[in-house]
Amino acid sequence: MKWVIQHIKQLVNTRTNSIVVRGAELSQLPIIDNAFIVVDNGIIQAYGSMHNLNAEHLHGAELIDAVGSSVLPCWCDSHTHLVYAASREEEFVHKINGLTYAEIAAKGGGILNSARKIAQATEAELYLQAMTRLQELMKLGTGAIEIKSGYGLNTENELKMLRVIKRIKASAPIPVKASFLGAHTYPLEFKENHNGYIDQIIHEMLPVIAKEQLADYIDVFCEEGFFSVAETQRICEAGKSYGLKAKIHANQLHASGGVELGVKLGAVSVDHLETMNDTAIQALGASNTIGTMLPTAAFFLRMPYQPARTLINANAALALASDYNPGSSPSGNMNFVVALSCIQMKMQPEEAINAATINGAFAMELQDEVGSITVGKRANLIFTQPIPSLAYLPYSFGSNLIEKVMINGRFI
Ligand code: NIG
Ligand code: FE
Repeated sequence: MKWVIQHIKQLVNTRTNSIVVRGAELSQLPIIDNAFIVVDNGIIQAYGSMHNLNAEHLHGAELIDAVGSSVLPCWCDSHTHLVYAASREEEFVHKINGLTYAEIAAKGGGILNSARKIAQATEAELYLQAMTRLQELMKLGTGAIEIKSGYGLNTENELKMLRVIKRIKASAPIPVKASFLGAHTYPLEFKENHNGYIDQIIHEMLPVIAKEQLADYIDVFCEEGFFSVAETQRICEAGKSYGLKAKIHANQLHASGGVELGVKLGAVSVDHLETMNDTAIQALGASNTIGTMLPTAAFFLRMPYQPARTLINANAALALASDYNPGSSPSGNMNFVVALSCIQMKMQPEEAINAATINGAFAMELQDEVGSITVGKRANLIFTQPIPSLAYLPYSFGSNLIEKVMINGRFI
């Protein structure tokens, strides 16, 4: 099916080069005013200013009028824990009453709580729950997503989670990437025997994951009280020997060297970055590793926000993602992620949109498929309601300004 969509108020992020966007370049967001786009068979075939719309574009196409919509590439959410078995609002109330994330984790709550629930759930149940969440996210404009394991914490249940993600990958209409996060926390029985659990990850889980092609990346929660820098390195190197590049949780609660390790290992991304120091900032800025900021996790845990401006000044390549999970970010709404990054981290709307689209795509190595409005990429597009300007999107946070979403050339 071929469509020509005409009279688009603004066609946003028509970036054609395939280089990750870093530093000052993040504020450059290519836009075409009063534009058209041609979508053929789910793929962007042409686009441009209305003056250049010609008979060849229109040939065999159904014409749609955008009636004042602006059109953006769908959000590329490069960090989620979309597969989980149960919400954790009881911990949310404990936090309101004064407990910290670390205190809840130490009491067997947090990740261990989710692990107990995963152990009781079937693959079919987990798949259905996650697909329901994914449908909701697509309506909110998400057009590519990364999903982690990490609530299994033993061979049987980590593999169960990864098989669920593989099923989502095979059936979802948007690109999905899978990360193996067996090293999310130590199961209670390995609290005093870290090497015992790491051996299980390396010698029991990884060989099966590689054989069944269950993951694209390896992830570790590199954090005090979780996995040390040395432990993270050992796990990531083992993952690498099976062809899995690293995408690691770094510098969420402490600046303990996770970012520097990620850079040293050539990680695709280091994610979180709430707690940065000068060494970590300079290392990231000088590297090809993407810094993925998760502002809704900082928001929900009442933590300091990621130092976006300092990172931009250090020339870092930055992405924004939702961290959707039941403990620290029970929302996968990328519109709010973008708004929060502008409101609390002083990102310019253009910077935030680049970070949540093209750089999110880079953080999943999907930059040739999604993340900008370019010939040959998937027609995964957000159509906004009429808005006075692009800055109106993050400005009017909390309002749903998405009129409709197109995935692979079809409105959902
Ligand atoms: O990215 N920080 C570690 N992992 C998740 C939280 C997981 C949970 O609390 O269930 C995160 O914030
Ligand atoms: Fe996370």
